[in-house]
Amino acid sequence: MTENSTTTVEPGARSSATRGELVLSLRGVSKHFGAVSALTDIELDVHAGEVVALVGDNGAGKSTLVKILAGVHQPSAGTITFGGREVTLSDPGTALDLGIATVFQDLALCENLDVVANIFLGRELSPLRLDEVSMEVRAWTLLNELSARIPNVRDVVASLSGGQRQTVAIARSLLLDPKLIMLDEPTAALGVAQTAEVLNLIERVRDRGHAVIMISHNMEDVRAVADRIVVLRLGRNNGVFYPDSSNAELVAAITGATENAVSRRAGRRQAQQDV
Ligand SMILES: Nc1ncnc2c1ncn2[C@@H]1O[C@H](COP(=O)(O)OP(=O)(O)OP(=O)(O)O)[C@@H](O)[C@H]1O
Ligand SMILES: [Mg+2]
Repeated sequence: MTENSTTTVEPGARSSATRGELVLSLRGVSKHFGAVSALTDIELDVHAGEVVALVGDNGAGKSTLVKILAGVHQPSAGTITFGGREVTLSDPGTALDLGIATVFQDLALCENLDVVANIFLGRELSPLRLDEVSMEVRAWTLLNELSARIPNVRDVVASLSGGQRQTVAIARSLLLDPKLIMLDEPTAALGVAQTAEVLNLIERVRDRGHAVIMISHNMEDVRAVADRIVVLRLGRNNGVFYPDSSNAELVAAITGATENAVSRRAGRRQAQQDV
């Protein structure tokens, strides 16, 4: 992948090799909050075994879109097709039952409980009625499958690093084997090594055949792991890019400006490298 290839190229080998059937398809999805149009006419396709990054400036509508797919908000218009049929995601339980799992930015973990308890939080009863030993084995198996670095599943979450907490939240979301997993800012507030660890984890989730939607403000992380990059701007689609797009192209689509401080700086850096 080179810096100066254009966005017209087809997705790279890694996505076409693993990308499976169409899992999620949005057509004409809009959402109004009173007079505020948070989303207008959104189109989005996500396949099995694919990481789609959802990027955009503050207020672009990313979280609103994720909340619609998580069953937290209802769209004002448009259709959502999931697993081949049109669905109504009337509440979070419905979304989860259909196979849409969400890791919200605050992770919603219990600090004072251990890793096993957090992975099974709220799901200790049927259909996953398991005893402590079985839950521990299941937690270990899940974390091992993800090659996750959690030293001890009996450690309380309060003692874990930010990356390890993100890992626990992701493992928890995989418990019911969802078709789609959505991650809201999974690398925000993480250091370099922890970010790399979480990006590796996202790749492993993708390689297991799950469809992944990841929201991020970090273009480096997005390009490192995404198969496609969907840009939202002021609540509308503003282009689909591939990881070999330049920073300037992405920033232009995100901000709506063809020329701005960030792209000028990137251009200057590129010019210095070229001489
Ligand atoms: N519950 C709500 N009630 C009213 N307006 C809302 C609500 N939720 C979001 N909005 C508005 O919808 C628009 C999109 O917000 P959203 O939170 O989806 O943006 P975002 O892309 O996630 O931004 P950020 O990067 O800052 O998290 C904003 O104008 C926001 O003020
Ligand atoms: Mg948001």
